[in-house]
Amino acid sequence: MKFFGSAKIFTVLLLLLPAARPAVLHAPRRNPPVNVPGRPFPTNVPGRPIPTSSIPTSSSPTTTSSPTGPSATTEVQRGQTGTLMVLPTQLAAAGLKQIPGKFVAHVIPLALNDAPDPAHPFIAPRPGDQRGPCPAMNTLANHGYISRNGITTFEEVTNGMMEAFNMELHFAAGLAALNFVTRGNTFVNKISIGGVSPLVPPLPGNIDGPVTGGIAKHGRFEGDASISRADAAIGDNRNFQEKVYDLDLVQLSKFGDNGPDGNNTVLNVKTLVEMEKALFNADQTADRQFSFPARRMFAAYGQAAFLMTVFANGTTNQTTLPILNSFFRNETFPPNWFRAASPITGATNAKISSQIAAAIPTLPGRNNAKGVYIADPAPPAPFNSSLPCAGYFDQAANTPSVLQNTTGIFKQNVDLMTGILFGGASANPGCTQFAPPSGPTGV
Ligand SMILES: *[C@@H]1O[C@H](CO)[C@@H](O)[C@H](O)[C@H]1NC(C)=O
Ligand SMILES: *[C@@H]1O[C@H](CO)[C@@H](O)[C@H](O)[C@H]1NC(C)=O
Ligand SMILES: *[C@@H]1O[C@H](CO)[C@@H](O)[C@H](O)[C@H]1NC(C)=O
Ligand SMILES: *[C@@H]1O[C@H](CO)[C@@H](O)[C@H](O)[C@H]1NC(C)=O
Ligand SMILES: *[C@@H]1O[C@H](CO)[C@@H](O)[C@H](O)[C@H]1NC(C)=O
Ligand SMILES: *[C@@H]1O[C@H](CO)[C@@H](O)[C@H](O)[C@H]1NC(C)=O
Repeated sequence: MKFFGSAKIFTVLLLLLPAARPAVLHAPRRNPPVNVPGRPFPTNVPGRPIPTSSIPTSSSPTTTSSPTGPSATTEVQRGQTGTLMVLPTQLAAAGLKQIPGKFVAHVIPLALNDAPDPAHPFIAPRPGDQRGPCPAMNTLANHGYISRNGITTFEEVTNGMMEAFNMELHFAAGLAALNFVTRGNTFVNKISIGGVSPLVPPLPGNIDGPVTGGIAKHGRFEGDASISRADAAIGDNRNFQEKVYDLDLVQLSKFGDNGPDGNNTVLNVKTLVEMEKALFNADQTADRQFSFPARRMFAAYGQAAFLMTVFANGTTNQTTLPILNSFFRNETFPPNWFRAASPITGATNAKISSQIAAAIPTLPGRNNAKGVYIADPAPPAPFNSSLPCAGYFDQAANTPSVLQNTTGIFKQNVDLMTGILFGGASANPGCTQFAPPSGPTGV
């Protein structure tokens, strides 16, 4: 059975994979386009135009002028105070920079030159701070690029990804949006980068159950065959797992390029391909409930690509063994590490993730009751047009449908998030249809 038509079409479509596009700009075409430098004006969301006047921008007022009405930025629903989310602006100075950075000679006495940046030192999490399955998020929190308690907002985490990793605005915002609609409180604009926290209330009226999960909660987005965490059904899917990570290092030691830290210490696409195969094989065998649906396959290959894009030393473009160890084991920026020299877009990352997908023939699927891996049925057209489009559809089908039934600022925030996600998906040729949140609640 073929999932996306012929294997050849599949490969070609993947190579055409996308930048996340500016999804908040889904205004009807008759309106003057909101200009984003260097980006094409995107197509409208079919049947779902968002009036330009309702699109929050970072120049919107940040205080409440009235409790209701079009200019309100806060609102009370069911005892919670919601906050209007706002798409940040692309970082203006988005060049090569040492992270976490240092004092510079001309603003401080020479003696302090080369001293660590006082705003972003590594501080290990304190008891009660949330940390989770994503080493990049944990690193941002350990250095104060997002709140050190691991509870963050849409704007803070998007800005943190831009500042520390030089991820391009829409790429960063898309990742934030994905996590918010699945595991955050999109009304009060709070999400835990780990587990359930008293600082992130359930959605108003408990419409998605009595707690908000946090990004560590398995199922909607967090999934199997992780690079450094165990499958939720058979182990710890939240904290670093030496045994899982060792599988990656074995592949690096066989297939990695030679570099300043030794032979076979520099990451390349071949290593990522072999890593993904090894992680899949290990978990498919060990975990009877193993599941690798389209949303998870798309995310897993994308996350593998992050290792070569987001974690690379911006001066060399190389991700070496010590760099990987620093991010995965210590969740800290490596000494003398530089963020990318120019913003990392969705297209930059897709260049690598599409090569991984093209090199691995496995289709999205899951184990049956006997532990045999069975491919999932293909999604309906047009979502069968590519892996990213199938992933987008599957993700929407695992995002609580009650988000469609929201009002006021809650609805405005949901529309901002889902618009950003469609903007990214629709950059893939043929991925022309908006997929509303349509998944079960309380899971
Ligand atoms: C998508 O599904 C439609 C309807 O079943 C089919 O005609 C089309 O060939 C499929 N496209 C791909 C790329 O598989
Ligand atoms: C590294 O690889 C080079 C080229 O294959 C080889 O000449 C060299 O001996 C290797 N170094 C070590 C330490 O294995
Ligand atoms: C790193 O990548 C950037 C962007 O692709 C490129 O401009 C730069 O020349 C590369 N640097 C090295 C040392 O390869
Ligand atoms: C991790 O932290 C420990 C303790 O500070 C240190 O000894 C080690 O070198 C660090 N390793 C990496 C890869 O950063
Ligand atoms: C990044 O590259 C620069 C230039 O080669 C080097 O000085 C620095 O040590 C590298 N950093 C890491 C973490 O590899
Ligand atoms: C939608 O919201 C209304 C008002 O809160 C509620 O009465 C209704 O049950 C909700 N419907 C669904 C499907 O959640």
